[in-house]
Amino acid sequence: MVEFNIFRYDPDKGGEPYFQKYQFEPEKGMTILEGLIYINENLDPSVAYRASCREAVCGSCAMHINDMYRLACKTQSSVMGSEITLRPLSHLPILKDLVVDLNPFFDHFKEIKPFFIPKETPPQKEYIQTIAQRKKIEAWLDCILCGACYGSCPVAGKDENYLGPHALLKALRFVDDSRDGGAKERIAIVARDNGVFRCHTVFNCQKVCPKDLDPSGAIARLKMKTVFRKY
Ligand code: F3S
Repeated sequence: MVEFNIFRYDPDKGGEPYFQKYQFEPEKGMTILEGLIYINENLDPSVAYRASCREAVCGSCAMHINDMYRLACKTQSSVMGSEITLRPLSHLPILKDLVVDLNPFFDHFKEIKPFFIPKETPPQKEYIQTIAQRKKIEAWLDCILCGACYGSCPVAGKDENYLGPHALLKALRFVDDSRDGGAKERIAIVARDNGVFRCHTVFNCQKVCPKDLDPSGAIARLKMKTVFRKY
């Protein structure tokens, strides 16, 4: 038997948050997300969680599982043991149970202008990127914006204005991209009070990233670019 101990809270109904236990026989190879689906379909349809792709691509099902922020679809129930505690992502308003309001998270993301800004003199036909130029950004491309890093970062918890590891990693993804012409603008954004220098180098973001990215390394690189900027 496995026991899921799930955080329950409905702000519309009021009252205090609490944990509710669900016991059931897990199927071999069951993920945490499949456990939640089983609970919804067989034990309690009122448990709220967010999920979509089921294969660690969309980033919807990030939550706190036992001791760490993880993707529910990528976490095997058997690895977590027979008692599994699920909590929502931290530092974001709770909409219901395991579902948080991601608007503040994406507002920070939008601040770094997550789109290509054309160069002053764009190529006539198309941008050609060499293998070496592509390699430079490869380490930052796989972020799925799941929010695990943001939930784990104590600075994000203390300062709602902090851009956060996700936005800063994405900023570097554009700054280092040979096709982008917005480096000056973006470096000025991350150099603000709520940017790279709010990071206290705690490394939680690196520890929890389900795609094995290193937001703390990206932030360190951005700090250097900010200090030594030539414009
Ligand atoms: Fe937070 Fe990561 Fe910096 S956890 S303090 S963004 S190194």
